Amino acid sequence: MELRVLQNSQEIGTEIAKKVINLVKVNQKAVLGLATGSSPLPTYESIIKSAKQEYVSFKKVTCFNLDEYVGLNDMSKSYRFFMNENLFDHIDINKNNTFFPSTQNYLEYDELIASKGGIDLQILGIGNNGHIAFNEPGCSFNSKTHIEELTKSTRDANTRFFNSLEEVPTHAITMGLSTIMQANEIVIIITGSAKKEALSMLLSGKITTDFPASVLNNHKNVCVFVDQELYNSVK
Ligand code: GLP
Repeated sequence: MELRVLQNSQEIGTEIAKKVINLVKVNQKAVLGLATGSSPLPTYESIIKSAKQEYVSFKKVTCFNLDEYVGLNDMSKSYRFFMNENLFDHIDINKNNTFFPSTQNYLEYDELIASKGGIDLQILGIGNNGHIAFNEPGCSFNSKTHIEELTKSTRDANTRFFNSLEEVPTHAITMGLSTIMQANEIVIIITGSAKKEALSMLLSGKITTDFPASVLNNHKNVCVFVDQELYNSVK
């Protein structure tokens, strides 16, 4: 794994957006794997800005999101809504080419990704407990897209997007760890003091299903983006 320590989350966003923009410039039909949460927001802001400034079209780009909640009453809390609001509504992407796993399609989601040629670049965040997408500790490294029960710690962490813990869904559909590992290139964003333990675990190189992100040690093209302050705290 390559490690890149940058000044702050804005700089990380700029760097990853450059990767995305360069990829789309070279391959108009690029396939992107996208994450939700606060970590990728600066990346999406920077993609929107660069796409406008450099006249980069996303018309032929395909996007696969990592995960989606199950059983939401309020769809404004859905990851589809989040992506529309924070990225898709601001670039010229064809929304028919943007996919989310659902209770209807999850058994075919991996095949759908493969049918589009596989993911060229996957963007990941990380949960405080080391989850990637919604693959919680204990999840098999061989998992494909599936329904996952969320841990209390993940629901607690995501309460900030809801009015109360009770409103946070108990389940989500997520790309599996093996689905994620199929991507050609992976970037993982680890920023902010709450991710201290997760970063230490990842950098330890120990590979265990208790810490799902550790599967990334087995991938040949992963870059870990960390902010300077967080990095200093684990050195
Ligand atoms: C959720 C998402 C993950 C994301 C994680 C961290 O659980 N399913 O994909 O990486 O939150 O979110 P944040 O970036 O807001 O810390």
